[in-house]
Amino acid sequence: MTSVARTTGGYRAGELTVHRVPAEVHAVSRALRGAGRRVALVPTMGALHDGHRELIRHARLLPGSTVTAVSIFVNPLQFGPNEDLSRYPRPLEADLEVLREEGVELAFVPSVDDMYPPGAQTRIVPGPLADELEGAIRPGHFEGVLTVVGKLFQIVAPEIAIFGEKDYQQLVLLQKMVRDLNFPLSIVGVPTVREPDGLALSSRNAYLSDEQRTLAPLLQKALTEGAAVSARGADAVLARARDVLAAEPALDVEYLELRDPELGPTPATGRARLLVAARLGTTRLIDNVPVQL
Ligand code: PAF
Repeated sequence: MTSVARTTGGYRAGELTVHRVPAEVHAVSRALRGAGRRVALVPTMGALHDGHRELIRHARLLPGSTVTAVSIFVNPLQFGPNEDLSRYPRPLEADLEVLREEGVELAFVPSVDDMYPPGAQTRIVPGPLADELEGAIRPGHFEGVLTVVGKLFQIVAPEIAIFGEKDYQQLVLLQKMVRDLNFPLSIVGVPTVREPDGLALSSRNAYLSDEQRTLAPLLQKALTEGAAVSARGADAVLARARDVLAAEPALDVEYLELRDPELGPTPATGRARLLVAARLGTTRLIDNVPVQL
């Protein structure tokens, strides 16, 4: 990873300032709020793509005098022992260039030691939803996500935090965390950005071989074909989506579920969410769409 110099400077309007030290970005954020500015935070793990650009643009279009902050931190706590922590892409210079192009003024790029100094052991424990869907396959993942995001909220002290709907379960769990633990901010979810062929943008798409890349849009195809028969009820939605996925043997489906928008049990009517996770070789892909039953 490219090293980031410690920045002692504060905020400079119209310029990207990169902070590494938590106390420093906290002081800048508090000073901005004291001066009547709002801070909107887009937490990321870097390897920024058009999906992240969309989150940043959303922050920049917020009404009022908003400063957009982006954090870049590959959080070891949310990776399981056999997951892709070591090979997760970390193109820091390119990421900072994206932030400059998008007009971001504050970047927070801590090291692992900045975020988890030796001896750090306190965690944010999510509710039971964290053991379902993604959590059933990635035990401990959401405890890691909530812990790092809770820390980012304390450090950057934003009034608004922006997340993609692509990680829908993460979004729901973070909304619950903010409500349950009284974080003084609001969370905004932004619809998934897709490639022209429907594949949801993800930093992990870079792991796909050419052949896998041609198969990957099947996830979205299955979801949209399922959603298209929603007038016939939940069973029809699931059956249609399952048929599309089953037609491609290279897709190893981990779950396909229809839940209510808060990820409780399938409702008989009204708003619902259809979610899928599948492996293509060693790469896990997830996707979801809204469904009206
Ligand atoms: O969605 C992500 O990129 C990560 O889970 C997040 C929210 C930045 C926490 O590390």
